[in-house]
Amino acid sequence: MYTLGIETSCDETSAAVLKGYKVLSNITISSLHQHKKYGGVVPEIATRAHLANIDKVTSLALKESGCNFKRLKLVAVTKNPGLIGALVVGMNFAKALSLSLNLPLVGVNHLHAHLFAPFLNNLKELRFPFLGVVVSGGHSEFYMVKDFDCLSIIGQTRDDACGEVYDKLSVNYGFSYPGGPVIDRLYNPRYKKSFHFKCGKMGYDLSFSGIKTALIYKKKELSKSGKLDLRTKKKLLSSFQYSVIETIISTVLEIAKDTGVRRIVFGGGVVANSLLRQRLLEVSSQGLRVFLPDLEYSADNAAIVAGLGFYLYNKKGLKHSLGLKPESN
Ligand code: KG4
Ligand code: ZN
Repeated sequence: MYTLGIETSCDETSAAVLKGYKVLSNITISSLHQHKKYGGVVPEIATRAHLANIDKVTSLALKESGCNFKRLKLVAVTKNPGLIGALVVGMNFAKALSLSLNLPLVGVNHLHAHLFAPFLNNLKELRFPFLGVVVSGGHSEFYMVKDFDCLSIIGQTRDDACGEVYDKLSVNYGFSYPGGPVIDRLYNPRYKKSFHFKCGKMGYDLSFSGIKTALIYKKKELSKSGKLDLRTKKKLLSSFQYSVIETIISTVLEIAKDTGVRRIVFGGGVVANSLLRQRLLEVSSQGLRVFLPDLEYSADNAAIVAGLGFYLYNKKGLKHSLGLKPESN
């Protein structure tokens, strides 16, 4: 059973071929370099890049998998959330394939697909319920997952997403976009408490915009008094990273304690963060089972879309008509 997955929700154009849940190929072309000078993704540029690259990634994915159009049994595509123009490109491409090859079509939620990542090539580990944590450039959400067709959001950011704040601060501090990898590299544990910054927390909801503003003002203040050298920036950003990651970890522990759930699944680009990974390893030794995706599957890619699409089709009988519409939010 071969599934073709298509992902175009943001700045990655990606196609993947899976045999069952085994990833045979996963090809991504990112338009990231075209957005760098703007300090964030420009929807129009992302959309045009998808148009230019969608057939290329699909051909490459088919070639690398050794599969061909005739052997495909299913097309899975990201239907929401994402940049609307970007989603439309992937959706129309997937619909055209579904129509011309007479294949069933399944649209999947991109955030749920992030939570499927640790189970690619590894379905035997998939058991419910689990706490799903999506931390990416556009989202920060805690889900109670009873199954992939039965998820409820139990906490989320009330303003900026976690990765978004990394991105904005990095640019504001004179470093590059995307900011997550930059700030992660600058992080020094010796400086984690040099400054005391706090993230907002209301129940299981989080807020990251306050800490972002605090760092921007602190930088301005130190800059005015001539005290803003690279070391001070490292201290400020290390204290920021420490506070953000500790807030996420403490919320996960709180939810686990309150609900009794022992399995925690992480997804989204921020999962690449080294402090988060280190802290999760420590948490795992306290009796919680933590599932992290391989780095290849943590950022946006089509293998997670194909995997979840196949699961929903195969286990839940889900199938969409050509009337399926992409939804931005
Ligand atoms: O999931 P993703 O590829 O795209 C979205 O759906 O948003 O996540 C991208 C986000 C960016 O905000 C990026 O700065 C962040 O993931 N990121 C990181 C790290 N690597 C990427 N954040 C913190 N630490 C990292 N090492
Ligand atoms: Zn994503």
